[in-house]
Amino acid sequence: MPTSLTDTTALHNGVKMPWFGLGVFKVQEGSEVIESVKAAIKNGYRSIDTAAVYQNEEGVGKAIKESGISREELFITSKVWNSDQGYESTLQAYETSLKKLGLEYLDLYLIHWPGKDKFKDTWSALEKLYKDGRVRAIGVSNFKVHHLEELLKDCEIKPMVNQVEYHPHLTQKDLLAFCQSQGIQMEAWSPLKQGQILEDPVIKEIATKYEKTAAQIVLRWDLQTKVITIPKSIKEHRIIENADIFDFELSAEDMQKIDNLNKDERVGPDPDEFTAGFDA
Ligand SMILES: NC(=O)c1ccc[n+]([C@@H]2O[C@H](COP(=O)([O-])OP(=O)(O)OC[C@H]3O[C@@H](n4cnc5c(N)ncnc54)[C@H](OP(=O)(O)O)[C@@H]3O)[C@@H](O)[C@H]2O)c1
Repeated sequence: MPTSLTDTTALHNGVKMPWFGLGVFKVQEGSEVIESVKAAIKNGYRSIDTAAVYQNEEGVGKAIKESGISREELFITSKVWNSDQGYESTLQAYETSLKKLGLEYLDLYLIHWPGKDKFKDTWSALEKLYKDGRVRAIGVSNFKVHHLEELLKDCEIKPMVNQVEYHPHLTQKDLLAFCQSQGIQMEAWSPLKQGQILEDPVIKEIATKYEKTAAQIVLRWDLQTKVITIPKSIKEHRIIENADIFDFELSAEDMQKIDNLNKDERVGPDPDEFTAGFDA
């Protein structure tokens, strides 16, 4: 089990990725994103998750520069947006993201959503970037088991990460087991169900028992299920609170209680139905 905010897990290619990071979805470009990323790094975070479609890569890059932490100590993820899927367009999108971030390389580059018929070409472009030493690890996001099975049929390099919606109301047990059997590290997006999970009475009850907040209980559950987690907050006190989860352990019984909350309920779109950007 990770014992500190900077603890990492080794991806299947040996690259070390922090178990915990900051997400910046819906964080405004400019001072909002700059201040939240700087607050996170100041308080010990080393992993930042952005995406081309969040339109805040420039601010993330600026915060990295101003953080005073060396590039090698940080783990930066971005994602190729749906409208850029395809081989050449993905290579181009990677350059655009790097330029906006002001970085020479990313630690992890993900296919944001599977779509229907382009993800194999997109994946070939990610493999090329990886083989050329332009990116340290490559992966996918929002891939269900059937998407992964399709990709694994002909890929040369297996994805190192699958970032998916994951919280106690959407525990994705089959997908997690499949990823683990393939050596693909699962990563949780919307780990707090965008705040909604914090109202769950069982989570609240467990929080009282451990003298922790509801957010801390859920984020600790992520780690104990061996899923990387990247909660978003623009408030420094919450950025600190969310990461303060390395001094307690949920019992097997309480882990089971949280697992039992599953209702296959999403806050985001179902990957089989999400077509935004693909019709462009
Ligand atoms: N790959 C994908 O398709 C995908 C999709 C969605 C998200 N993501 C990634 O996953 C990250 C996290 O997901 P998310 O941003 O959707 O949702 P989230 O992290 O589940 O929840 C964020 C919301 O919870 C609030 N919050 C954070 N900490 C809190 C705390 N301790 N107490 C109470 N409220 C708290 C935040 O408000 P304040 O900011 O006001 O504190 C914000 O409204 C994203 O930022 C993004 O990097 C990826």
